[in-house]
Amino acid sequence: MVCTDEIKEWLRVNLTAEKYVHSLGTAEAAKAIAEKCAYDEDKAYFAGLVHDCAKNLPFEKQLELVRRAPFELMEGETDNAKILHAPAGAVLAREIFNVEDEEILSAVRWHTLGHVGMSMLEKIIFLADKIEPETRGREDYEKRLKALDNPEMLEKEILDCYIYTIKSLVDRQLKICNQTIDVYNYLLKFLK
Ligand SMILES: [Fe+2]
Ligand SMILES: [Fe+2]
Repeated sequence: MVCTDEIKEWLRVNLTAEKYVHSLGTAEAAKAIAEKCAYDEDKAYFAGLVHDCAKNLPFEKQLELVRRAPFELMEGETDNAKILHAPAGAVLAREIFNVEDEEILSAVRWHTLGHVGMSMLEKIIFLADKIEPETRGREDYEKRLKALDNPEMLEKEILDCYIYTIKSLVDRQLKICNQTIDVYNYLLKFLK
């Protein structure tokens, strides 16, 4: 696996300044969430750092990456770059950073959509991406992190992300994919 300094340099060159800073913020948030949830902090930091590695690649290049993905793509995943960059990133991270840890690759692959029955690392990266302090505000980040003093709040925080996303999609009259609804329903039931 390539060391984090080399990865940071690659990200600095290949991402926009905004997404580079977001990646550092997500790594920081992932490490902090991992600490709250008694998970491997270094692994969470690493997964947070690489999660958006394909974010600024041209759409065609992202399509090319997922064509050689060792996993099946879901319906709708190739519709737009907002969703596609996540599975494309899982392929890219393996190819250019030599990441072979399937748990990390899966966390990258699912960081945008999430899925029913996410692993602990998938949950950590999903949430870290949404609450990281650099692009979304440190005050809100600190508040959400504090809520995780009770680690059982992790799913509640993730549910809040889905509620926000679904409301925003409805407001803009955009399509909500079935998987988003499935995870939302699953979390509601899980938290009852
Ligand atoms: Fe992303
Ligand atoms: Fe992200």
